[in-house]
Amino acid sequence: MGSYFQILALLLLSLPCIFSQVTEFTSIDCGGDSNYTDKKTGLAWISDNGIMNHGKTVDIQNLNDEWEPYKKRRDFPTDDRKYCYTLDTKERRRYLVRATFLYGSTETADTYPSFLLYLDATKWATVTVFDGSRTYVKEMIIRAPSSSIDVCLCCATTGSPFISTLELRPLNLSMYATDYEDNFYMKVAARVNFGAPTKDPIRYPDDPFDRVWESDQVKRPNFLVGVAPGTERIDTTKNIEVNNREYPPVKVMQTAVVGTEGYLTYRLTLEDFPGNARAFAYFAEIENLRSNETRKFRMEHPYVPDYSNAVVNIAENANGTYKLYEPSYMNVTLDFVLSFSFVKTPDSTEGPLLSAIEISKYVQIGSKADAQDVIALNAILATLPADPGKQDKGDPCTPTRWEWVLCSSTAPRRITAIHLSQRNLTGVIPPEIQNMDALTELWLDGNSFTGPIPDISNLLNLKIVHLENNRLNGFLPSYLSSLPSLQELYIQNNYFSGKIPPALLSRKIVFNYNGNPGLTKGMRLGTKVKLVVGISVAALVAFIILVIWLSLRKFRRKASQQNSYKGGSLHAVTKPQNGHNLTRGAHLMDDGVACCIKLSEIEAATMKFTKNIGRGSFGVVYYGRMKDGKEVAVKIIGDPTSQGTKQFLTEVSLLSRIHHRNLVPLIGYCEEANHRILVYEYMHNGTLRDHIHDSIKQRQLDWLTRLRIAEDAAKGLEYLHTGCSPSIIHRDVKTSNILLDINMRAKVADFGLSRQAEEDLTHISSVAKGTVGYLDPEYYACQQLTEKSDVYSFGIVLLELISGRKPITEDYGTDWNIVHWARSLIRKGDVGSMIDPLLADSVKLESAWRVAEVAIQCVEQHGTSRPKMQEIIMAVQDAVMLEKGAENNQNISSGSGRAQSSRKTLLTSFLEIESPDLSNARLTPSAR
Ligand SMILES: *[C@@H]1O[C@H](CO)[C@@H](O)[C@H](O)[C@H]1NC(C)=O
Ligand SMILES: *[C@@H]1O[C@H](CO)[C@@H](O)[C@H](O)[C@H]1NC(C)=O
Ligand SMILES: *[C@@H]1O[C@H](CO)[C@@H](O)[C@H](O)[C@H]1NC(C)=O
Ligand SMILES: *[C@@H]1O[C@H](CO)[C@@H](O)[C@H](O)[C@H]1NC(C)=O
Ligand SMILES: *[C@@H]1O[C@H](CO)[C@@H](O)[C@H](O)[C@H]1NC(C)=O
Ligand SMILES: *[C@@H]1O[C@H](CO)[C@@H](O)[C@H](O)[C@H]1NC(C)=O
Repeated sequence: MGSYFQILALLLLSLPCIFSQVTEFTSIDCGGDSNYTDKKTGLAWISDNGIMNHGKTVDIQNLNDEWEPYKKRRDFPTDDRKYCYTLDTKERRRYLVRATFLYGSTETADTYPSFLLYLDATKWATVTVFDGSRTYVKEMIIRAPSSSIDVCLCCATTGSPFISTLELRPLNLSMYATDYEDNFYMKVAARVNFGAPTKDPIRYPDDPFDRVWESDQVKRPNFLVGVAPGTERIDTTKNIEVNNREYPPVKVMQTAVVGTEGYLTYRLTLEDFPGNARAFAYFAEIENLRSNETRKFRMEHPYVPDYSNAVVNIAENANGTYKLYEPSYMNVTLDFVLSFSFVKTPDSTEGPLLSAIEISKYVQIGSKADAQDVIALNAILATLPADPGKQDKGDPCTPTRWEWVLCSSTAPRRITAIHLSQRNLTGVIPPEIQNMDALTELWLDGNSFTGPIPDISNLLNLKIVHLENNRLNGFLPSYLSSLPSLQELYIQNNYFSGKIPPALLSRKIVFNYNGNPGLTKGMRLGTKVKLVVGISVAALVAFIILVIWLSLRKFRRKASQQNSYKGGSLHAVTKPQNGHNLTRGAHLMDDGVACCIKLSEIEAATMKFTKNIGRGSFGVVYYGRMKDGKEVAVKIIGDPTSQGTKQFLTEVSLLSRIHHRNLVPLIGYCEEANHRILVYEYMHNGTLRDHIHDSIKQRQLDWLTRLRIAEDAAKGLEYLHTGCSPSIIHRDVKTSNILLDINMRAKVADFGLSRQAEEDLTHISSVAKGTVGYLDPEYYACQQLTEKSDVYSFGIVLLELISGRKPITEDYGTDWNIVHWARSLIRKGDVGSMIDPLLADSVKLESAWRVAEVAIQCVEQHGTSRPKMQEIIMAVQDAVMLEKGAENNQNISSGSGRAQSSRKTLLTSFLEIESPDLSNARLTPSAR
């Protein structure tokens, strides 16, 4: 029995380790005819037979490299189309995407191919084969823009497009994160392992991320030439500590070159340069230097002032030998020919050493077709007769357009015409078409569409509409006659019925409606039809009157019940005496939710203001209990100046309009004898600030509770930003304005500083208000207030939740500001050190990482780079799932995990957890 469980435990422990890397890799052998595991790397390759239904398989002639995935290639037709592979990704996760091209020798004297490679709408490379026996490798490092990417080939100028393999490798957390990843991908131009023992590249399993590290022994034109005399190769078998950001493989770091004559020089060409690059150098001291020996050097070329003057002392920088030192340039401009040299300093006894380099070009992410248009096109694709493999993929407009659409020429690219005549389409015309408002031509004639004309009243640019020869039915909508650009409308040979809108007949357009037996022109409605219509209208009117009468009665009864329940403690809805028009013409309290409460009642409830429970933005807050037992928080507006009055009225008018479960509800107000008082629902658990920073209460907040609080508060703010019209900016988001109710659910409080964002302005100028430590620096500097200022402050709240630190501390020395502190840790990829020591080991790193990542985006310098509240909510929900995944994993050990393992997603299996069961374990229903 005991041993049985031991084996089980062993299996459970080892399973994720075996599968984590391999299952997350996508390795497609293009042109291959079967699935197999390749012996050299142990990777599982799948044939693209089931994925790609275009092109043909070709055996490679005179193969130098006998590696199985390279034995066949797939050739595509030479035409105007693009041919795309779709790869599943996890949005915002970083990946290495690799395509390889080995052509082999040509049987005929044909020229080698040259064609384009695209990743979505981003131009990736021009693949030009000069040498049939060389494997051309194209790699791109991306942060996935959505849940899938398309790799497309097209536009051959010679020969036909082809591909040998396509590989997708997820990277770990912060690897290869850059400051530019919102707008740029990174195209790998060189990744070289110096001192390599053979010509073979190093990749999986030596590199767990399966990067290809090219050997410096490879000989080809303009690759690592101009090597300085005295350059020697050194190596070690000792382990190297590589736990830095980019985790280069130990095997790569175990070899190096040393310039024994005091300098190292190399020259190589960088494809597609000049350009801006991310460049890394990897060093590890692998010689045992004696105490009278030193190794110090400088980079002489390329000359970059800040870097070239710095002395590289590997052992000192890495704080020890056999440890990785990884200096890098975030953004350096390089030429097509890169010459670089390292030279020892005069006081150094040893020459320079180099283990590896990596250089990637920043490639601007191409502009995709409009998202709404793409949704509509995909809905239309679904009506095409089944043969999904032959259907169009990739971006509809870039690099080549789908053959049945036309696109506008400027970004964002819009669909201007759909040509699907006689394509055997069936079903109803997809209603999504209503958002394609750049459409000028719609050709859907000669198909088998059924049902009515979809709503096309928004398509104001429509000129030509062909719907003839289908099986459409229903009435002709009257807006057709007022589509401003319409010139031609063909609907003949369908089953339309009813009256043709007279304005359509009188308009000067081409209009063909023959062959619709049910269609009538003008006023010739049959008397029978009239009678039927008359009767139904009368019945309908009678029915509506009945419904209104019934609901009125019900409503009145309910209202009178409520009044008697309240025992008269709260007045019925009243309008204020002074009719301040704050809400754009609507009277204050028009919504009739907050009530006016008598001062005497408030005094009774609070026992003459005895129990002080805190201080809000404008005044002291007291605890109270109304006659009906309801607990309340009573806020007295401190200074009854005119400013105070205005803010008081603002708050009342705002709050009485806003209802959301994550916003503290206003119960009533009082404006009597110079007192201005607001009465809120009492929040039993006080402020979030107390729970995080107060040493007695804080133990209650485990990580999942913190995540739930973050999600609640984010939903409250999101409602203010997008659910209210006009939208509202809170302006004072902080942990002491996030309150916790009796169930520890969070509600956002204190709208005293809120201003309604003008509908037609993107910002309002006003004196910067807010709390030190939470104040958006951009708002402070420019006085331009947007929702993104709240996002900034909320980012600080998230950082507090993760770290348990205050936004500003005196006792942390140089790291007094939480933003600087967190940013430097994130840059190092060290989320572990950010986590609140009180949470200790109870947090999954991936979950914390997800929140930290979005928090750092929130505190970006520029508002435009910060996420929206909606994106923050999604990130927090992700984090909850990642965290909960750990619990689900335990289900496996109880034997019920079998069904779940089929739901393993790429991400979760990589992180060695199960994805939660979405059908019943979805955390909270959305707020509204
Ligand atoms: C290869 O594997 C893929 C994915 O697992 C599968 O869809 C396909 O049917 C397999 N093909 C063959 C020939 O076994
Ligand atoms: C991924 O990153 C985590 C945290 O930094 C680390 O513990 C883990 O070993 C990394 N995985 C690999 C394969 O390097
Ligand atoms: C890199 O630096 C150049 C010059 O300073 C700048 O124009 C560019 O926007 C920066 N970023 C990228 C990704 O190229
Ligand atoms: C360091 O000292 C050793 C003997 O202790 C000597 O052989 C060697 O030449 C010295 N190296 C240098 C660079 O002075
Ligand atoms: C360098 O390493 C030594 C021991 O290996 C350690 O005591 C010291 O704190 C380290 N210094 C830094 C700055 O990390
Ligand atoms: C439509 O269907 C007919 C009959 O099945 C077929 O002959 C024709 O090729 C199809 N047309 C298209 C464009 O698929």
